[in-house]
Amino acid sequence: MESLRISRPFDAHVHLREGDILKTVLPYTADVFFSAVAMGNLKEPISTAEQVRVYREQILSALPSGSNFMPIMSVMLQKNMTPEILEQTFEAGAQVLKFIPAATSTNSSASNGVTIPELRNYYPVLAKAADLGMIFSGHWELARDAGNVEIPELERERLAIPWLRGIISDFSELKIMVEHVTTAEMIEVVKAAPDNVAATITAHHLMLEAKDVMDPSGRIINSLNYCKPVAKTHRDRMAVVETAVSGHPRFFFGSDSAPHPISAKRRIPPAAGIFSDPVALSIVAQVFEERGFLNRMKNFTSGFGPQFYGLPISQETIVLEERYWRVPESIDGIPVFMGGKAVKYQIVS
Ligand code: DOR
Ligand code: ZN
Ligand code: ZN
Repeated sequence: MESLRISRPFDAHVHLREGDILKTVLPYTADVFFSAVAMGNLKEPISTAEQVRVYREQILSALPSGSNFMPIMSVMLQKNMTPEILEQTFEAGAQVLKFIPAATSTNSSASNGVTIPELRNYYPVLAKAADLGMIFSGHWELARDAGNVEIPELERERLAIPWLRGIISDFSELKIMVEHVTTAEMIEVVKAAPDNVAATITAHHLMLEAKDVMDPSGRIINSLNYCKPVAKTHRDRMAVVETAVSGHPRFFFGSDSAPHPISAKRRIPPAAGIFSDPVALSIVAQVFEERGFLNRMKNFTSGFGPQFYGLPISQETIVLEERYWRVPESIDGIPVFMGGKAVKYQIVS
């Protein structure tokens, strides 16, 4: 039986939510990861210093007792953002400026959000982020074309590329995260970019393809697998997998674990987001093992992320053992990714 001991991992992208959901989901992140970037797309998106402080306290007080989990706080790029406000949020503990384009995903409203083309109006904010050493972490999907026509979901990441390229070439001093890459083309953009640009890869995008989510007409056939960006073609998934196991230091783990109650997942259209942290590391281990690179997993989950974020690698460790276990269908009414299925590798300590 194989077992693998790795430094406690880092989740560079997680949605911990608030209130009761926070209490339910937090242990699945905090018991495993030494730290995680807590995204601020709450019902009232985090956009001020006071909200950063309050949310940080909320997370810390929901932690299991004795936990030394360290949340990395984020602030959302919303219409109200200025360099001054950004600096205040930084002083309140925010290390990440998070960008979800307006009206493209959970709690990114059309009225307060910023679209990708509007980013050019926020260059002073991005320059301030660079000065402060904050990380600009973005969900790179273009929702509407120049004629304001909605772009099909499968094309949104590719069509964001020219805009992202512009930001990369205008901000050589800004640390830029390309969240949850799902296309071969986006992966190439990140590889070709300078060292201030990195990308996260989720567990679910290592496993899913568009056919697991929607039919050829784009109708959602499995809402539990529905997230943004939606999983793409087989070729794209192979590029994601090959890149993850390749040992490239600018591609590392970020779960994008995004819990929604079953009622929201059953709605039409369903809420986008996959609650994956209870199973994410097991999946990553399985994929790395299948490719013959289990020895590279530790860099992907525990090394490259902290390195890019300027965090120390955890001195604590966890052990994954090769042992099948059945993933629960749901936890407190929140469906879990791969629920009901058996997965190899269980975290035993
Ligand atoms: O699928 C997603 N869910 N994509 C996002 O960008 C947001 C996330 C959420 O917060 O539910
Ligand atoms: Zn996202
Ligand atoms: Zn996310």
